[in-house]
Amino acid sequence: MTSILAYEELIGSCALQLSKGGVFLMTGLAEKNPMTIGWCQWGRIWNIPICTVLVRPSRHSHRLIERDGLFTVSVPGEGAMKKELGYCGTHSGRDVNKLIECNLATIPAQAGGIDALLGCSIHFECRVLFKLEMAGNLPLLAGEQRAQFYTVEEQAGGDGDPHTVYYGRILAAYKEPEA
Ligand SMILES: Cc1cc2nc3c(=O)[nH]c(=O)nc-3n(C[C@H](O)[C@H](O)[C@H](O)COP(=O)(O)O)c2cc1C
Repeated sequence: MTSILAYEELIGSCALQLSKGGVFLMTGLAEKNPMTIGWCQWGRIWNIPICTVLVRPSRHSHRLIERDGLFTVSVPGEGAMKKELGYCGTHSGRDVNKLIECNLATIPAQAGGIDALLGCSIHFECRVLFKLEMAGNLPLLAGEQRAQFYTVEEQAGGDGDPHTVYYGRILAAYKEPEA
């Protein structure tokens, strides 16, 4: 049994987890591919609850969000799932089935979105309403951040692999009950 709550009640502890190993971005209606993300925002835009994630085009997850227009953010409890976060942040769903490799399972979506990751404590099921491409706009980014996050890719002859920013409407926010 999951309980559906107002997203405002859940985001405090989730924001803390972003800098403590990250959270999981679930994409792929059929594939269910977990990817570790460290950048995510929750808030209110267009008078509705919105969750924003930033995904580089080189990620397999990027292709899946583009195809389905859906994603779910699953947030582990404090100190939990560190090994899985490490694996899902260094392996691509293009090459491996991360659910199988990490012995992970999913729980059914509550609002028609992507299934959430079992074992996490809080989930945000989202539908993409809007996206912004950083491509072409990198000169607008402050020099320090541009150098830190995009220079290596630019020097390698690419365009910096700049993120797509996805704005997802939070369809449901829920908590897994303690076992
Ligand atoms: C702590 C951590 C945070 C990360 N945050 C992001 C992120 O916010 N956006 C992103 O595109 N990649 C991020 N990555 C990199 C992806 O998780 C990694 O490239 C992954 O293998 C891509 O998986 P996929 O190809 O199955 O989508 C992060 C990796 C780690 C370890």
